Amino acid sequence: MSLCFSLLLLLLLHVVAPLVGTDARQQWPVPYRRFDGRPDADSYCEALFPFCPTGDEDGRIPYVRDSDVISVYRLQTPVWEFKYGDLLGKFHIMHDAIGFSSSETGANFTMEWYELFQLGNCTFPHLRPESYAPFWCNQGAACFFEGIDDSHWSQNGTLEKIGEVTGNQFNDMAQWVQDDNSTGIYYETWTVRSDPGPNATVWFESYDCSQFVHRTYRKLTELGAKLSSRSQTNYTKIYLYSGEPTYLGNDSAIFGQPALKNLAEDIRKFYHTFRPHQSFVDFTASLLEAYTQVVLDKSFYLYYNFEYWHLPMKSPYMQITYEEVPLP
Ligand SMILES: *[C@@H]1O[C@H](CO)[C@@H](O)[C@H](O)[C@H]1NC(C)=O
Ligand SMILES: *[C@@H]1O[C@H](CO)[C@@H](O)[C@H](O)[C@H]1NC(C)=O
Ligand SMILES: *[C@@H]1O[C@H](CO)[C@@H](O)[C@H](O)[C@H]1NC(C)=O
Ligand SMILES: *[C@@H]1O[C@H](CO)[C@@H](O)[C@H](O)[C@H]1NC(C)=O
Ligand SMILES: *[C@@H]1O[C@H](CO)[C@@H](O)[C@H](O)[C@H]1NC(C)=O
Ligand SMILES: *[C@@H]1O[C@H](CO)[C@@H](O)[C@H](O)[C@H]1NC(C)=O
Ligand SMILES: *[C@@H]1O[C@H](CO)[C@@H](O)[C@H](O)[C@H]1NC(C)=O
Repeated sequence: MSLCFSLLLLLLLHVVAPLVGTDARQQWPVPYRRFDGRPDADSYCEALFPFCPTGDEDGRIPYVRDSDVISVYRLQTPVWEFKYGDLLGKFHIMHDAIGFSSSETGANFTMEWYELFQLGNCTFPHLRPESYAPFWCNQGAACFFEGIDDSHWSQNGTLEKIGEVTGNQFNDMAQWVQDDNSTGIYYETWTVRSDPGPNATVWFESYDCSQFVHRTYRKLTELGAKLSSRSQTNYTKIYLYSGEPTYLGNDSAIFGQPALKNLAEDIRKFYHTFRPHQSFVDFTASLLEAYTQVVLDKSFYLYYNFEYWHLPMKSPYMQITYEEVPLP
C-alpha cells in the first residue's frame, strides 16, 4: 500500500467512523461470535487432507458407563520448528489435543480441534474473480476418534496423564463438546493486543486448537475433575500488536456499497499480497510478507466474527510466542 493510499485510508476512516458509530461501551476483547448451527462449507473450499478421517461420521462420542474411570492426557506435538532469518526468530508452533482412556474397556481416544482447510486458509482469504469480497475457507471443528498414537505425541512433544474423570463427567463433557462444536464454527489465528506487557488490553482472542484444549480443561474442572501437570504447560500464540481497533463492517456493508469502494479496494489490496492455499513453508512466507507490509504500513485488516476491523499496528507488530497457560 502506497503512502498515498494510507492517507486516503486515514481520510476514509475519519469519514466512515461517525457513520459506523464508534461505541464507547465497546467490549474488549470482542466476544467470539457463536452461531445457531454450522453451515456446510462452500464447495470452493477443498481440503488438502480430509478433515477427521477416522472420526465418527456424525461426530458421535461413545457413551461410557458411569462407573468407568477415564484417564485424561495432555497431548502436544510440534507442527514445525525452524529458523527463518532473524525476523520472526525461531517458530515454536505446536498442535494441542486431549487424550482419554477407559479403565473398563481399555479403549482410548484422541480429541482435537483444527482447521477444515488448513492454517493458511484460516489466516488469509482467497481473492476470486467472481466474488468482490475476499473469500474465506476458515471453518474449524472438533474431531474425536478412537486411538492415541503414542509415538506421534511423545517422540518430540508431550504425552502426559494429567488427571482422571468419572464416566459421568466424561459423558457430560461429550455433550458440551457437541454444543461447542456446532456453535463455534470458525478458526481465528491471531490474538490481538495493545502491547507485549502483562497489563496489555486484549482486543481479540484467537480461536484455535489450544483454545479448545483450554476450554475443555475448564469444562472438566467445572464438572469436578482435578487436573495437574508435572511440567510447564506452554502453548503457541500468534500475536498482533495494535492501538484501539476500528469496526469497519461485514461483507455486505463494505463490499456491497459503492460509497465504501475505496475501503473495499484497500482490503482486497491488503490481502492480495498473501497466498492462502499453500504449504506450511508458504504459510510462513506469507506471514513474513504480512509482517513486512504491516511494518511498512502500520495497518492490518482483521476478519473476526465474519466482520472487518482496522488495526492501527504498532511495534513489535507481530510475534509468535510459546508461553505458559497453567491448567485450571
Ligand atoms: C485452501 O483452499 C483452497 C481452495 O479451496 C484449496 O485449493 C487448498 O487446497 C486449501 N489449502 C490447503 C492447504 O488445503
Ligand atoms: C464437529 O463438526 C465437524 C463439522 O461438521 C464434524 O465433522 C465433526 O464430526 C464434529 N465433531 C464432533 C466431536 O462433534
Ligand atoms: C492407546 O491404545 C493403544 C492401542 O491399544 C496403545 O498402544 C497405546 O499405548 C494407548 N495409549 C494410551 C496413552 O493409553
Ligand atoms: C522427531 O524429531 C526428529 C528429529 O527432528 C524427526 O526425525 C522425527 O521424525 C520426529 N518424530 C516425529 C514422530 O515427529
Ligand atoms: C500492571 O498493573 C499492576 C496493577 O495495576 C501494577 O501494579 C503493575 O505495575 C503494572 N505493570 C506494568 C508492567 O505496567
Ligand atoms: C451486515 O451488517 C448489516 C449492518 O451493517 C446488517 O444489517 C446485516 O444483517 C449484516 N449481514 C450479515 C450477513 O450478517
Ligand atoms: C514456557 O513459558 C514460560 C512462561 O510463559 C517461559 O518462561 C518458558 O521459557 C517457556 N518454555 C519454553 C520451553 O519455551
